[in-house]
Amino acid sequence: MSHITIIYESDYGNTQKMAEAIAEGAKSVPGTTVSLKQAEKVTADDMMKSDGVIIGTPVQMGSMDHRVKTFIDTVCGGLWMGNKMVGKVGAVFVTGSGYGGGGAELTLLSLLNNLAELGMVIVPLPKNTNGYEYGGLQWGPPTADPPGFIWNRTASRMKASQRPGIMAPMWPELRPP
Ligand SMILES: Cc1cc2nc3c(=O)[nH]c(=O)nc-3n(C[C@H](O)[C@H](O)[C@H](O)COP(=O)(O)O)c2cc1C
Repeated sequence: MSHITIIYESDYGNTQKMAEAIAEGAKSVPGTTVSLKQAEKVTADDMMKSDGVIIGTPVQMGSMDHRVKTFIDTVCGGLWMGNKMVGKVGAVFVTGSGYGGGGAELTLLSLLNNLAELGMVIVPLPKNTNGYEYGGLQWGPPTADPPGFIWNRTASRMKASQRPGIMAPMWPELRPP
């Protein structure tokens, strides 16, 4: 049995919808339990009980949401000092307005850097993941707001494929052929 915690913040609902879609996908993986939490409410104990975490943020001024950053610097900072997250699995996602890039890629990379600092095993989003062509980035899924074409196509493909986005690479049996 694996436990995945999906951690996010959201002011206008886009990142929450994405988090819920990812949670739905994660739950469909046999032997997986999932919890969905806002970054402000995640404790060190939640992290310790997780085999994997997936962190999502809106892009704010080209970087991550301040509450997600606070979670990284406080909760994750303490875990970093004790090497408590080493070897656990981690992945990331963002939502943004997306026009001209808008910092989505930088934000994903910045979060991945935090996972690397924690010694986690990073799960990217391979380009052969179903739905990748509708808005994928190799670092993790980005979406556009308001949840429109790219978001809908990506989410519906994730559902239809039964290989829901970011979770696919975490379990070898779910990898696309
Ligand atoms: C103050 C502010 C700054 C933003 N900065 C960016 C940005 O730099 N790049 C981007 O792509 N989107 C930016 N956005 C758009 C949000 O990232 C986007 O609407 C996101 O989906 C909001 O997520 P939420 O609905 O979960 O709050 C910004 C939005 C706000 C309100």
